[in-house]
Amino acid sequence: MKQGPQTSPVNPLSTSASEAFLSYLEAIFTLSLPDIREMIAAFHEEMERGLSGRDSSLRMLPAFVDAPKGNETGEFLAIDLGGTHLRVLSTILDGKGTATVSSVKRFLVHEEAMRGTGERLFDFIAACMDAFLEENRMERTKAYDLAFTFSFPIEQTGIASGRLIVWTKGYTASGVVGEDVVRLLNRAFQRRGIPCMRVVALVNDTVGTLAARRYSDPLCSMGVIMGTGTNACYREGLARISTYRGPCARGHMVVNMEWGNFDRLRSTCYDKALDRVSVNPGAMRLEKMVSGMYLGEIARRVLVDLMWRDLIFTADADAFERFSQGNTFKTEQMSLIEGDDTPSLEKTEAILRDIGVHQTTEHDRRLLKRLCTLVSGRAAVLGAGAVCAVVAWMDPEIRRPHTVAMDGSLYEKYPQFAERMGMVFMGLYGDKGNRIRLIHTPDGSGKGAAVIAAVASGSGKTRAEEKG
Ligand code: GLC
Repeated sequence: MKQGPQTSPVNPLSTSASEAFLSYLEAIFTLSLPDIREMIAAFHEEMERGLSGRDSSLRMLPAFVDAPKGNETGEFLAIDLGGTHLRVLSTILDGKGTATVSSVKRFLVHEEAMRGTGERLFDFIAACMDAFLEENRMERTKAYDLAFTFSFPIEQTGIASGRLIVWTKGYTASGVVGEDVVRLLNRAFQRRGIPCMRVVALVNDTVGTLAARRYSDPLCSMGVIMGTGTNACYREGLARISTYRGPCARGHMVVNMEWGNFDRLRSTCYDKALDRVSVNPGAMRLEKMVSGMYLGEIARRVLVDLMWRDLIFTADADAFERFSQGNTFKTEQMSLIEGDDTPSLEKTEAILRDIGVHQTTEHDRRLLKRLCTLVSGRAAVLGAGAVCAVVAWMDPEIRRPHTVAMDGSLYEKYPQFAERMGMVFMGLYGDKGNRIRLIHTPDGSGKGAAVIAAVASGSGKTRAEEKG
């Protein structure tokens, strides 16, 4: 338990001291419009460097596929691995812009699969596929076309092959970095006795999200994930991608930016401390300020600082103990607190009670809510700045309308997240900010992966045009 002066629940002195500290926090967590413009300029420099193969915090990885035309058809299986869950899906494309998921099975990725050996992870994936075949009474000897959505930084060597550059989002499975993940998957299928799976596309979740929307919306050239991790892809002219050494130099290709690694950012002492103890210090700096995996932890670190200063939860002797362990405050809890509109924040009181903090004042709860808003507000502004950077790269004067396909739990569920992003577009571009439309596009890594598989197997016009 933390030793220190115990003050009464309503302490006018602590109220004004906490206001002063909040002003300091506001100053370090708030980004002005000039800050965002600076970030956009830095983003453009990093994009340029990444595309031309120079050192860059933006990896700009060619996805070996263009966006779909909308007339692709077929039925595809997809495996979607990108975080805490794995899904196996079957999707039917009607060739008219509609993708329908006909069956889906969801699995929790257990700790040993994420952090044990690579063989263990891929055996787990093959076992999930096996369970899906079993449940849907599908023959194990038939050949199925499969899209593998593997949402980590992959250096693709073709549409259905690519090496893992580095793990992100807390995964550490050994023996996978530097290996072709499709080969590892095929070997696991062999071991499992389901060798007929044919991986026709290796897909990042952002690429799937772009494809899912673009299948019925030609204005969409960008896909963004804001969930456990954050990342984006967009459609780029092949002539500009000097790292791509494929057969055709005309046309377009989707580029997976891996923007979570962008690092030209002003970070606070809380971000720096979080980074130092992470599994990948120095890397994924934007992701660590924006994504769902980290927001709760940033807020917790600020909270602990407030407790040290006796500015919050002074009436609860156990509060410090409860919050002093890493990762004890979750982004989901922040989201519920920000959504709490009861008169004295009774819902927040209940959330705190669940955590084990029983004696809170309304002042404590209001302070906590404001702190959550600062952390999540910065995430939304940084996310919006990154979106603007990419849109402005494609269309510097924002002359055309742009649909940005969005997915991820943070974007979908966090109160006010999308609205706060929209405010940045208006702040930067005035009325033209309305031309950037964020559209929630669920299930990109299922439906979109199938669309990419169809493009890759030449079901739409895209492949024919490429050949021509
Ligand atoms: C991480 C991964 C990236 C993925 C993103 C969203 O940033 O490196 O590939 O797209 O999370 O899931």
